[in-house]
Parts: sequence; structure tokens; C-alpha cells
Amino acid sequence: MAGAWPNPEFFLIKDISLTLKDGSKLDVDRSLVTRAMQYSSTSGFPELIKWVKDLQEKVHKPPTLEITDENKQLDIIITNGSQDGICKTLEACVSAGDNVLIEVPTYAGTLAILNPLKPKILPVESDKDGIIPGSIRRHLSKWNPEDSQNPKSSIPKILHCVPNGGNPTGSQLTWERKKAIYKLCQDYDIIIMEDDPYFYLQFSKPYVPSFLSMDVDGRVMRFDTFTKVMSSGMRIGCLSGPRALVNKIIQHQQVSAVHSSGLSQVALFTILQEMGHTGFLQHCDKVADFYKRQRDACLAAANKHLSGLAEWVEPSGGMFVWLKLPQIKDTYKLIWEKAREKEVLFVPGNAFMIDSSVPCQYLRSAYSLVSAEDMDKAFERLSAIIKEELKQ
Ligand SMILES: Cc1ncc(COP(=O)(O)O)c(C=O)c1O
Repeated sequence: MAGAWPNPEFFLIKDISLTLKDGSKLDVDRSLVTRAMQYSSTSGFPELIKWVKDLQEKVHKPPTLEITDENKQLDIIITNGSQDGICKTLEACVSAGDNVLIEVPTYAGTLAILNPLKPKILPVESDKDGIIPGSIRRHLSKWNPEDSQNPKSSIPKILHCVPNGGNPTGSQLTWERKKAIYKLCQDYDIIIMEDDPYFYLQFSKPYVPSFLSMDVDGRVMRFDTFTKVMSSGMRIGCLSGPRALVNKIIQHQQVSAVHSSGLSQVALFTILQEMGHTGFLQHCDKVADFYKRQRDACLAAANKHLSGLAEWVEPSGGMFVWLKLPQIKDTYKLIWEKAREKEVLFVPGNAFMIDSSVPCQYLRSAYSLVSAEDMDKAFERLSAIIKEELKQ
């Protein structure tokens, strides 16, 4: 008499059968289908959580799996893509006026979450090797490590970064820098938000070890997603972090989405179970190989058409090239007016900057969807647009 669950008698789906692109067919276990039709656990289907936890153990060997303090032990929640976990974590940890350390340029989605929260963003500079520890150190020099123990202190509590295939920069945070950054975060007791959707799209092996793999303190909130390698529409990601913090996110999930779609979870789990961890990692390798070839085609087109007009750094992973147009003061009008007229589109760099009203010489080009021929045409058009602009 207590439960407010609807009567499943009237739920129409009984069986789900999946046909994969290689022609193979997978039936979702009927008991999973039945459970997927009803409300289920807020943190996710236990079978999927276990599969993901075993993957995290295999790939990252998180020290927090062994830690004795229960609050710091590794816990996992299945989220609606990684964006959902990032949003809930920032909402949980950031109040108006708080200082937060954010990689710049950064993923526009993070800025869109942060801006209404009205924090003071401390921009952490980055280069081809990711965020620069010295830049974090400079920001932190205003405080003493002991300030982190004073709840009234304005010391930053959060660092957000995209360590692989940076969106928009394509850069990769090196292991050396990660170690220095982790140490700084230990000294000043800062939580690291490791927003890593392109982890499996690294172009060289072995993978650079993650912050999660060095987390002896339970200070890393790691955001993974199946978006880039399985399906973006299924909206399945996972947040791995210390239990005390993950529990807060679970509470938020309970009062917001309740849980990620059961249908997506069981469909994904059925495929992952069939693949096993090894099959999943092999699939990721195939995806990374594809993007690497796309990157090469994109850079070949850039070399052909944009030499002398643009500067860029070879992306180490992911799906973006970050181009600087040194002779153009601001790419915004160039793209939204001139490029659009010529039927080619990029994202103006200001979308990834903390103050988007400041003129920006950069633009982001994605190579995920476009053929080599079209990339060639696109950069040919961009080159013509830049040259026209320079004549004026
Ligand atoms: C850096 C970064 N984080 C998070 C996301 C969100 O991904 P999803 O919510 O689809 O997992 C994206 C998507 O483009 C991204 O580039």
C-alpha cells in the first residue's frame, strides 16, 4: 500500500531485440526488460554499474577502491551522459561568489552551467600539453594551504579540466603535469573534476594515466561517457568519485531525473556484456583510429589552404582542431556573417572563453562528421574569406 509505482500490467513492451550494424542480434534478457519498464535504482542498474566499475578497475586501477575510509571509497552513479554529472556536481559544489579554477579555453557546456551560478572564475591557462600547473599555482598564491580548512575562506574548492582531446583545443594533459596538479590540489585540498569524454579517443597508446588512477585521497570526480563511442542519444555516462560526494549526486538525481532511462541502460548493458571489456576496448581503438585518420585529413586540408593564414597544434585526441587566425581580430563576425554566406560553418572561439564579449582570434573546427573532400572545400572557403577580410 505504500509504493507509488504504476501497475506494470499496462506497460506495453515485453521483449527487446537489438540488431547491431554487423548483423548480429541480441535479445535483452526479459527480466531486465521488465525491470527497465518500471522505476529502478537511482544510481543505475547494478549490472551496468558493476560492468563500469570493473572497467574502471581494469583501465584506471583507482587507489580509492582499496581505501579504508568509506566516505572516500570509489562509488559510481550512472548519469544522463557526462553533462548531467558535471551539471549536478557544479550545482552541488559552487555557490555565487565562489572561486573556481577552470581551464581556458574550455567546453562551452561547462560555462553554460557555471554562468547562472555566478562564481568567480579563475582562468587556468593551457597549451598543447593541457593546463599549466604554474597558472594554478599563481591563482592559489593568494591563499595558504591552511585556508582550505577554514570553511569561511574564499579558497577555490574545485578545478575543472578536460584532460584528453580538449574541447575545443584537442590538447592532452601530460602525466608530468597531472602529477604536479594533483600535488597542488592535495596541498590546497581541491576537488578535481576530470571531464574526460575523449579518454578513449587518444591517438597514441598507452593511454595517459588519469587523475582517477592517482587518487589516493578521494578528491577526483571523474566523468566518463558512452556518447563518443557507442551512442550520444542513449544518454548514458558515469560519474566515478568518492562515496560521500557521489551520494550527494545520487540525492540530486533522486529529485531530478529519478534515474537514467532504464531502456537505455539495459540496451547498453546487453551490448557491453556481449562485448566484454576487451571487446569494448577494441571497439574504442577502432573509433580512435577513425578519428585519427579524420584528424590527418583535416590537417592536410589546413596545411594546403591555411598556411600563413592560421596557426594550429596537432590534436592528440578527440574531434577538434583549434585554429588561431593571427591577422583577424575577432572571428565572430567572420564566421557568423562571411562564412555562413559561403555555406561553411565553424564555432567562433569566444564560445569557449570566460568572457565571450572579448574579441577572439580563434575558431574550433570539428572533423568528426565531414569527409576529407568536404574538409578540403571548407578550408578552401575559409582561406578565401580570410583573404577577402584582409583586403578590406
Ligand atoms: C568536454 C565535454 N564534456 C562533456 C560533454 C558532454 O557529453 P555527454 O553528456 O554527451 O556525455 C562534452 C560533449 O561534447 C564535452 O565535449
